[in-house]
Amino acid sequence: MPDWNPAQYERFKAERALPFHDLLALVEPGQDMRAVDLGCGTGEPTAVLHKRLGCQETLGVDRSAAMLARSAAFAAPGLSFVQADMVDWHPPAPLDLVFSNAALHWLPEHPLLLAKLHGWLAREGQLAVQVPANHDHASHTVAWELAEQPPFAAALGGWRGGSPVLKPEAYSQLLFDLGFERQHLRLQVYSHVLPSSSDVVEWVKGSLLTDIEARLSPEMFAKYLARYRQVLLERLGERRPYQFAFKRILMWGRLPT
Ligand SMILES: C[S@@+](CC[C@H](N)C(=O)[O-])C[C@H]1O[C@@H](n2cnc3c(N)ncnc32)[C@H](O)[C@@H]1O
Repeated sequence: MPDWNPAQYERFKAERALPFHDLLALVEPGQDMRAVDLGCGTGEPTAVLHKRLGCQETLGVDRSAAMLARSAAFAAPGLSFVQADMVDWHPPAPLDLVFSNAALHWLPEHPLLLAKLHGWLAREGQLAVQVPANHDHASHTVAWELAEQPPFAAALGGWRGGSPVLKPEAYSQLLFDLGFERQHLRLQVYSHVLPSSSDVVEWVKGSLLTDIEARLSPEMFAKYLARYRQVLLERLGERRPYQFAFKRILMWGRLPT
């Protein structure tokens, strides 16, 4: 099964780092914090978080061996990584911070998910999450449309695309209902200026399309990718440069004492 490809993911490292830093800026520093970074990827952002917040203990959790292979390079006292599925993993003790940048959109049922993460927090604990909310952009809609067309639909065995990401106001309500006394919730549009519209294909090859690649044979994925490129460029037009307007939801909440 194809894994995440760190080299492809990091082709747009600078652009992908922007929301991470915006999310980290929402977290309030504390004494001897215990933190987890869910879907930590290569661990490089986790190491920045660990150092910036002066955490006592930070654990990065990711299921991708390829992404985690790089994490050893960022080792520091109190910082460790574990290869695990976020669905099954849970912390051994209450946490001061549950952080996740660009990863929770791979999991379904966000109301239940947020309730679970809330349950991991100690008093005054913080939740900081960023999820992409660009699923109405052609980069996503074309991917999912093609997945329902022949020959890909049969090869994907009935799999259908879609996003579990809710509206910003729904997350705000969830945080309130869960008892986060203070919260910050925003939808932010990042303006990523790419050399051309075809670079959107390179962008999604490192994220969204990994899910489809994992479900198809290499030959069928090559066919899918060619068709995706053709249809996407028909929709976006051949533009140089191309402004990839990318919506993301940033949420932060803090529990009372
Ligand atoms: C877009 S990357 C974000 C990586 C990192 N947080 C960053 O800011 O660069 C998403 C990561 O989530 C991980 N991921 C996706 N689903 C997961 C799951 N169910 N359990 C653990 N990790 C998962 C992927 O392996 C990938 O490394």
